[in-house]
Amino acid sequence: MKRRSVLLGGLAGFLGLGWLLRPKELGGDHSPYFEALSRALDSDALSKPTLVIDRQALLENVETLRKHLAGRFDYRIVAKSLPSLPLLEVVMQATGSNRLMLFHQPFINEVAKRFPQADILLGKPMPVAAAKNFYREYKGRTFNSAKQLRWLLDTPERVAQYDALATELDREMLACIELDVGLHRGGVQNDRQLITMLEKIQRSPQLTFCGFMGYEPHVTKVPGDAVKYRDRAMASYSHYVAVAKEFLGDAWPQNVLLNAGGSPTYQMYNEGDYPFNEMSAGSCLVKPSDFDLPSLADHGVASYIATPVLKRLDNLEIPGIDVGGLQSWWNPNRARTFFTYGGFWKAKPESPPGLSTNPLFGHSSNQEMLNGSRNINLQPDDWVFLRPTQSEFVFLQFGDIAVYENGSISQHWPVFSEQAS
Ligand SMILES: Cc1ncc(COP(=O)(O)O)c(C=O)c1O
Repeated sequence: MKRRSVLLGGLAGFLGLGWLLRPKELGGDHSPYFEALSRALDSDALSKPTLVIDRQALLENVETLRKHLAGRFDYRIVAKSLPSLPLLEVVMQATGSNRLMLFHQPFINEVAKRFPQADILLGKPMPVAAAKNFYREYKGRTFNSAKQLRWLLDTPERVAQYDALATELDREMLACIELDVGLHRGGVQNDRQLITMLEKIQRSPQLTFCGFMGYEPHVTKVPGDAVKYRDRAMASYSHYVAVAKEFLGDAWPQNVLLNAGGSPTYQMYNEGDYPFNEMSAGSCLVKPSDFDLPSLADHGVASYIATPVLKRLDNLEIPGIDVGGLQSWWNPNRARTFFTYGGFWKAKPESPPGLSTNPLFGHSSNQEMLNGSRNINLQPDDWVFLRPTQSEFVFLQFGDIAVYENGSISQHWPVFSEQAS
C-alpha cells in the first residue's frame, strides 16, 4: 500500500513537472509601432499582402554602413538585395555611390536605362547568351557599356566565349575575374588558371581586364574563428593580386577594381589593411531575418510583409484525427487560429508576438494558418506582420513596395520586372 502511494506520488510529481515544462505563453497585441503601421496601411486603402519598407530605418542603416566604411573603401550597392529602382535611387543618393552589383540580365538592362551614370559589376558569371541579350535589348544611349559594365568571368573557357562575343558584336568589354578566396563557389582556384585567363584577356583586342571580385561570406558562416577565416581569405586575395601584378607589369589597370565583402562580413574590416578597395553590401540596409547576426547588431529592421487576417477561430482544429485540442491544451500559443491572406513566403511571423505556423496543418500560399495565444486579439481585416528571411526573392512577390514614413505610406516603389521595358 505504501509502495503504491509512493509510485502514485512519483507519477503525479512527474506529470506536474511535465506540466511546468509546457511552452510559456508568448502572445500579446501589436506594439504601438505596428499599431501605427496598421493605421497607415488602412489609410492607404491597402488590402493585400504588401511589402513595407520603413524609410527612416533604411536611412539609419545607410548611416551605420557609412560610419563603418568611413571612406576607407568605395561602396558597391548589391542590387539583388534591394530589387527596386526607386529603392536603389534612394540608397545611391544617401551613399553617394553609383556602383551597383547585379545578378540578373533583365535587371542589368533596367538599371543601365534608368541610371546611365551607374558603374555595374556582375556578381556572378553570366552565360554568354545572357550577355548577348543585354546588348540586344539595351536601347539607351548614355550608358557606355565599354566603360561602365564589368562582366564577371570565372574560367578560361568563359573568357574565350566573351572574347568571341566581343568580336561578333564588335564591342569593347570590361572583364573582372572572380577569385575563390575560400567560399568554393567557383572562380579562380590556382595561379595557372589566373594566368591563363589574364593571357587570354591580354590577347583579346576587345576585352580589358579591370580587376577582381572575391566574395567571402563563409568567414562569418562556418563554425570557428571568423578572424582566422578572414585572414586566410585576405591572404589568398593578396596572393592573386601579387600574381596578376607580376604577370601584367605596366598593364596592371590604374583604376583597378578589387571587390570583396557582403553584409555579414563588411564590419570585419573596420580596422586594418586589406588587399581590396571596394566593398559590396545590400541586405544589411533592409535587414531580413537571415541577417540577425552579431556582426550586424547595429543595423535595424527596415522591411516587413504586412498581410490581412481573413479569419479568426477561438480554437484549433486539424482535419482528420483532430489533435488540435491536444495541441492547444499543451501549448497556450496554439489556443487561437488565424488564417491570413496568402502565406508560405520565405518569412517569419513578427507581430503580434507569439504567432507561429502549425506543422500538422501545414503551409498554404493561399490562406496560411497561424496560431497564437488568447492574448492575441486580432480580428478579420487586422494586419499581421512578418519578416522576410531574405530580400532578393521575397521583395519581388508583392508588387509595389509600400514606403512607410512619418506615420503614413508616402510612396509606392515598383520592384524589378522580368519584362524588358
Ligand atoms: C558576389 C556577392 N557579393 C556581395 C554579396 C552581398 O550581398 P548582401 O550584402 O545583400 O548579403 C553577395 C550576396 O549574395 C554576392 O553574391
